[in-house]
Amino acid sequence: MARFTFLAFSSLLLLASLSITGAEMSAKVGICYGQLGNNLPTPSKSVELIQGLKAKGVKIYDANPKILAALGGTPLQVSVMVPNEIITNISSNQTLADQWVKTNVVPFYRKTRIRYLLVGNEILSGPDKTTWFNLVPAMRRIRYSVKTFGLNKVKVGTPLAMDVLGSSFPPSSGSFRSDVSDKVLKPLLQFLDRTKSFFFIDVYPYFAWASQPASINLDYALLASKNITYTDPVSGLTYTNLLDQMLDAVIFAMKKLGYPNIRVFIAETGWPNGGDVDQIGANIYNAATYNRNVVKKLMAKPKIGTPARPGVVLPAFIFALYNENQKPGPGTERHFGLLYPNGTRVYEIDLSGKTPESEYEPLPKPTNNEPYKGKIWCVVGEGANRTALAAALGYACGQGNGTCDPIQPGGKCYEPNSLVHHASFAFSSYWAQFRKVGGTCYFSGLATQTIRDPSYGSCKFPSVTL
Ligand SMILES: *[C@@H]1O[C@H](CO)[C@@H](O)[C@H](O)[C@H]1NC(C)=O
Ligand SMILES: *[C@@H]1O[C@H](CO)[C@@H](O)[C@H](O)[C@H]1NC(C)=O
Ligand SMILES: *[C@@H]1O[C@H](CO)[C@@H](O)[C@H](O)[C@H]1NC(C)=O
Ligand SMILES: *[C@@H]1O[C@H](CO)[C@@H](O)[C@H](O)[C@H]1NC(C)=O
Ligand SMILES: *[C@@H]1O[C@H](CO)[C@@H](O)[C@H](O)[C@H]1NC(C)=O
Ligand SMILES: *[C@@H]1O[C@H](CO)[C@@H](O)[C@H](O)[C@H]1NC(C)=O
Repeated sequence: MARFTFLAFSSLLLLASLSITGAEMSAKVGICYGQLGNNLPTPSKSVELIQGLKAKGVKIYDANPKILAALGGTPLQVSVMVPNEIITNISSNQTLADQWVKTNVVPFYRKTRIRYLLVGNEILSGPDKTTWFNLVPAMRRIRYSVKTFGLNKVKVGTPLAMDVLGSSFPPSSGSFRSDVSDKVLKPLLQFLDRTKSFFFIDVYPYFAWASQPASINLDYALLASKNITYTDPVSGLTYTNLLDQMLDAVIFAMKKLGYPNIRVFIAETGWPNGGDVDQIGANIYNAATYNRNVVKKLMAKPKIGTPARPGVVLPAFIFALYNENQKPGPGTERHFGLLYPNGTRVYEIDLSGKTPESEYEPLPKPTNNEPYKGKIWCVVGEGANRTALAAALGYACGQGNGTCDPIQPGGKCYEPNSLVHHASFAFSSYWAQFRKVGGTCYFSGLATQTIRDPSYGSCKFPSVTL
């Protein structure tokens, strides 16, 4: 009986949401244009490449004036971002908010279709709690500035990551984290509702799958399964892919706080085309499959929506335009691009969804869809900067127990006495000791994982065994 009541109630809500959110917007898939690379094409070349991908929009992570100028005169809908660092100051200073909008948005608004102004990036995933609680006040001030300058087509939002949910499975149990639910999410949802903006969410089935590949089917995560379904025991809704499950968890969480109708905008989604040896499923085959399937779903006519919001449009930005060689973290972070830094495609894709699958060339078969089993070493990568390498060597040797003893004069790995050789040993030795407590084989991009044993003679490099 309780279940019946719930279903009846939720279908009323669905009808309401259809009429509010379904009609006026056409489907669009845009691209996230991140710039954390030292080898990327110019803004004007990038805009050409973006149009070549048939993207409908572009999201940038700042308000780079060269990019905004290069986007002028194009039909691309543009999302710009207020940097995290100034949110707290903006939250208490309208002059500052006005100044920011006046400097960064107003001069471009006439020629460049700036449509979204995102305040901060994944603020509620960061450690700085002061900023959490200043987020919505800053958004209100930015919105006030937007009105002041008559930028009537600009929606103000903030992209959050899936870790704003305290519970996400089954989707009907979706709810926000208790540390932010009342103090941040409630006022945020109220703001988004009142201003008819969107709930911007970064949603990555890849990370959900990669953290438990034994319990989630890969094809289900890739939107490629024809026969796997999951039925939510509470809502009765049936899922055919992981993306829908994650999105509906967000929708249920909003509903729980009293906001069933706020539109969802996928601020980022994507799949890495490569990564480290210990990272499962990061390859070109999966990346192409996921991104093509997402585009197909989002651009489908009639609109598909999600089980909780059937038929409702889901605008999205795919992450990302380029493989970005200066993104910190594990290797996958630097391999989300649709394009290499030289502008060539990592795989074929058409973000308008108009190219039929049969027109694409066959993809390289994946070789890392099963967890790697064996030893891995951490060594110096190609083209490492010698000054930075010397500093990293010093750092690694200062960590752990006897990390660099074998490369001291007279040690078994002292010869050949070269910086690169010593640093490779130090990286392997450091990583072997610290991986289990979260240590990475990264060293600001100087290090790379290898399955080729660098040991020789009596010099044995420590390894990580998976
Ligand atoms: C914020 O304002 C304070 C006080 O005016 C100033 O010292 C600080 O530099 C500002 N922070 C940023 C990131 O602009
Ligand atoms: C607000 O920001 C403006 C512009 O940066 C600055 O001149 C002013 O001192 C700030 N006001 C306060 C109260 O910090
Ligand atoms: C789904 O189909 C695939 C390929 O046709 C098959 O290998 C798999 O066993 C099927 N799974 C289920 C749950 O029916
Ligand atoms: C672009 O870069 C990729 C990856 O490094 C490489 O495989 C490809 O050959 C390059 N293409 C051109 C035209 O340089
Ligand atoms: C090498 O690294 C040092 C220290 O990190 C830096 O100051 C220098 O600019 C780098 N050189 C090059 C060519 O990138
Ligand atoms: C180093 O040795 C100390 C004492 O034996 C131990 O507590 C610590 O965990 C070791 N550190 C590492 C990184 O193995």
